Amino acid sequence: FMPGKQTGLSAQCWPDRLIGALPNVYLYAANNPSEGALAKRRGAATLVSYLTPALTHSGLYKELVSLQQSIERWQQLGPEQALDRASLTELIIEQARSIDLAVPAHINAASDASDVKATRDTALAAWIEQLQNQLLELEYALIPEGLHVMGQTPTREQRLGTLKVMADAMGLNSREHSALLEALVDGATEAELQSQQNNLKAAAPLSHDKASVPPEAESLRQLVRSNRLLGEDHEMQGLMRALDGRYLQPAPGGDLIRNPEVLPTGRNLHGLDPFRMPSAFAVRDGQRQAEKLLARYQQDHQALPETVAMVLWGTDNLKTEGGPLAQALALMGAAPRFDSYGRLAGAELLPLSTLGRPRIDVVITLSGIFRDLLPMQIRLLAEASFLAASADEPPEQNYLRKHALAYMAEHEGSTLECASLRVFGNTEGAYGANINHLIDSSCWENENELGDAFTQRKGFAYGREGRPVRNTSVLQSALASVSLTYQNLDSVELGVTSIDTYFDTLGGISRAVLQAKHQRDGNAAEAPPVFIGDQTQGDGVVRSLTEQVALETRSRMLNPKWHESMLQHGYEGVRQIEAHLTNTMGWSATTGQVQPWVYQQLAQTFVLDPAMRERMAQLNPTASAKVANRLLEATRRQYWQPDAETMTALLRAGEELEDRLEGIQEGLPA
Ligand code: BEZ
Ligand code: MG
Repeated sequence: FMPGKQTGLSAQCWPDRLIGALPNVYLYAANNPSEGALAKRRGAATLVSYLTPALTHSGLYKELVSLQQSIERWQQLGPEQALDRASLTELIIEQARSIDLAVPAHINAASDASDVKATRDTALAAWIEQLQNQLLELEYALIPEGLHVMGQTPTREQRLGTLKVMADAMGLNSREHSALLEALVDGATEAELQSQQNNLKAAAPLSHDKASVPPEAESLRQLVRSNRLLGEDHEMQGLMRALDGRYLQPAPGGDLIRNPEVLPTGRNLHGLDPFRMPSAFAVRDGQRQAEKLLARYQQDHQALPETVAMVLWGTDNLKTEGGPLAQALALMGAAPRFDSYGRLAGAELLPLSTLGRPRIDVVITLSGIFRDLLPMQIRLLAEASFLAASADEPPEQNYLRKHALAYMAEHEGSTLECASLRVFGNTEGAYGANINHLIDSSCWENENELGDAFTQRKGFAYGREGRPVRNTSVLQSALASVSLTYQNLDSVELGVTSIDTYFDTLGGISRAVLQAKHQRDGNAAEAPPVFIGDQTQGDGVVRSLTEQVALETRSRMLNPKWHESMLQHGYEGVRQIEAHLTNTMGWSATTGQVQPWVYQQLAQTFVLDPAMRERMAQLNPTASAKVANRLLEATRRQYWQPDAETMTALLRAGEELEDRLEGIQEGLPA
């Protein structure tokens, strides 16, 4: 991982000298082609892919189920049952509040004045509908079920879960085809399934039900193939082949639900053709996602954002043929240009008349992995921002030009080339903002240290030449104009609270934006809204960070289906729970946009429940103590303020877990 060694090693390089002629066999998650490509380029690795965990719908649990039942009953009551309706309304409000679902103030205020009452009834119906949609989103959120064990094939139920999600991704509604999917996992052949479908159709010829539309033959073939391959172990076989020094078949990397060709695993992942990225599909999708983000911001702020700060990783781009980078181009009103061989040659601007809105200024920060894998795309993005800033267009129709000209007016002697730098990242050979390490070790006092770490690490501008040069001045100026920060989420298995790199990059830039605004406008300046483009299902949806963390907390950590499946893996399962909590605190530290109830409920579920506390401590005493300490750290840093009783219980539990770690047990002399 040294400067200048992004694409390969020479015979003089230490890793190459040390590894010599030794074969390098490297197990790799099938959904991580970007880091896998690095292992191949630098370590001449033969990758042996393994499967990601089975996927399942989150489902509802405990109080969420009772709330859903109350809502359904409420909807069945007619206007003549006013009394029942009123008491059920009170119950719904109480139930929602008990699990920290927001109850708007105007719903709370009961009044008997008839005109007020009519308004309240309308508002009430709207709120209950919204609540129901929220429950629906939660129920159908996709979550990973536990962890994958190398060489172990998924159970029938796990296979069914994954195949349902795959069917949905193919446009076959899994709820309407449940009989078909059951038959599929029980081993029905393609011909049998096809005839089962035909019989259904014959039995109900007049039905206009969607279920009577037979699945496309190709989708059916893919599902049958996937079911068969999921039931066979190719991973141990692949590993043994590689260790025997035999040839391993290549395979595309990516998400099983989007690309069934990922199966069978146990094969050698391959990467990308950089000359074809972004693909035509990605360009179109990038435009759609750009408009979706702008629409969400407009809905909240009644204006277009002038500047978007966007984080690009290697993984999200590799899995989508460059969707996110095409989205950055689309925001600027630019597109890739290809030569007569169809190879990427540079950027071009779309005319404003085609674009139909102003060009948005985009500050891009790259992961180190993106920088290593996609140098041509870096130059493409840099050329796009330069072309946009150079366009002879009114500044009110071109925010990039507007900001670049303002920068030049403020900084005598600066050039347009410099003022339009918008692609930033680490210098060569460096990765990440290191905020994740600060958070994990608790070695920081003030949130400003986190923003400073980000600009320190990511303050290198990549211009049209593609070489990094530190440029704090342009970065600070661009960050101060940011209206929102944004990153796409590409994998179901990895949410923004699953790994520490999302808050390291998106959280880091959000904090850096706030600090740049403080510097420019004084301390009254506000933090930018943070948005996540969830690309994991259907056509994608834009959520605020607050919404995304709430959804992940409810569908994963608090959901017995998720945490029980983790605890089945013992030690590592507890560590995963601890990691999710630490990552959640990373979001509080960098953005302040995590609601306090998240900590309260995590504390109740994992620390204040004696049985759960005991179980987790048995499985992994270190991670259990870390969970309690992290919750206490969150109170110290004012990310939540529990009542005195909770605080005392948490302190006591924390001490007990620490004692256990030190080998002091109750009943024994200390
Ligand atoms: C990337 O693909 O760029 C990436 C992967 C994991 C963590 C951070 C970045
Ligand atoms: Mg790693």
